[in-house]
Amino acid sequence: MEQIKWVNEAWEKVHEKVTRTSIRIGARFPHASVDGAYVLEAPHWWTAGFWPGLLWLLYRDPESRDERFKDIAEACEKQLDDVLIGYDQLDHDMGFMWSLTSVARYKLFGEEQSRKRALLAASVLSGRFNVKGNYIRAWNPWGEGDRNEGWAIIDCMMNLPLLYWASETTGDPRFKHLAMEHADTVLAHFIRTDGSVNHIVIFDPQTGEFESVNGGQGYAPNSAWSRGASWAICGMALSYRYTGEIRYLEAAKRVSHFFMANLPEDSVPHWDFRLPPGVERYRDTSAGACAACGLLEIARSVSEEEAALYQKAADSILRSLYENYGAWDNQEEEGLILHGTSHYPERRNVDVPLIYGDYFFVEGLARLKGNSDTFW
Ligand code: GLY
Repeated sequence: MEQIKWVNEAWEKVHEKVTRTSIRIGARFPHASVDGAYVLEAPHWWTAGFWPGLLWLLYRDPESRDERFKDIAEACEKQLDDVLIGYDQLDHDMGFMWSLTSVARYKLFGEEQSRKRALLAASVLSGRFNVKGNYIRAWNPWGEGDRNEGWAIIDCMMNLPLLYWASETTGDPRFKHLAMEHADTVLAHFIRTDGSVNHIVIFDPQTGEFESVNGGQGYAPNSAWSRGASWAICGMALSYRYTGEIRYLEAAKRVSHFFMANLPEDSVPHWDFRLPPGVERYRDTSAGACAACGLLEIARSVSEEEAALYQKAADSILRSLYENYGAWDNQEEEGLILHGTSHYPERRNVDVPLIYGDYFFVEGLARLKGNSDTFW
C-alpha cells in the first residue's frame, strides 16, 4: 500500500511536469538538460526515441492519457522517416530509435505504417551483422580516417528487441537468429566473471577474431561503467523474454548481482563502479533507472520467492530517484531526474538530467503500477 502511494504520487508529478515541458519541447528531440532546459538534437541522434517513448508511456495509462502526447509522439516518429531513408546517419542504435516510436505505436494501435517502418529499421540493423565475428557493428567512421568496422558495444543489447519483435511479427526467425548470435558474443566477450561488463570489444572485421577491449564511456578498459551494466541487465532480461533461453536470464542475474552489490547507500550508482581515488564520483541516475527496469524484468521471469530480491532492489532505486534526485518542485528545470552522466571521459553532459534517465524512470514507474508490457 505504502509503495503504491509513492508510485502514484510520482506518476502524478511526472504527468504534471511533462504536460508543461511538452509545450516547449513539442515534436523535437531532447537529450540532456543544461541550465534547466533540454538541449535538442537532430532526429538522427541515438536518443531520438526516448521523448516520444516517454509520451507513449503516459498516453497508455488512462490516468495520464492526453491526445497531445499522442500527436507529439506520432510527429516525432514521422520525422525519423528521413533518417531511415537517408541511410548515411544510421548506426547500431536503430532499436533505441524505432522500438520506442514505431514498435510502440504498432503495439498500441496496430498502425500499419509503423509496422513497416520498424521492419525496415530491423532489416537495416540486420545488415550491420558481421558473420565472421557474430556481432552487430557499432557506429560508423564518423571522423576522418576512423576505422571501427570491428567494434561492438554493450549498449547494442538494447537494440536486439527490435530484431526479436521483427521475427515475432513476421514469423521469420532470421532477425531473432542474428540477435541471439550477437547476444552470445556478448556472453563470450563482454560479461566478465565478476558480473561487470566491457563497454567496447574490438574484433578483426575480416576474420572475426577477438582483438582487444576499449574503455569507451567507462573510466578504463578494466573499470565498470555503470550504464553499460544496466544495458546488459535490461537487454539480457529482454532477450530471455523473447527467446526463453535461460543463459540470457542467468547473464542478466549475474550482472545485476554485481550492480546491486556495488550500489552506494542511497541505491543510485556512480557513473563507474571501479574508480581510483581522486576521480570525480558523479552519479549516473540514468544507469539506475535503466537497471531498475531490468531488475523488474528479471523479477517477472523468476519464481515469486526469487523475485523478491530483484523487486526490492528495483523499488529502492526508483524510490531513491524519486525522493532524492527528482526535480519536481523546480519550475526552472525541464528534466525529471537530476544527476545523470552521459560521457565522463569526454566530459560531455556530466551531472545533468538525461532523457533516457527520464524515460527509464517512467518505464520503471509503469512497471510498478502493474504494466510490464514493454515497447521493446
Ligand atoms: N548508448 C550510449 C550511451 O549509453 O551513452
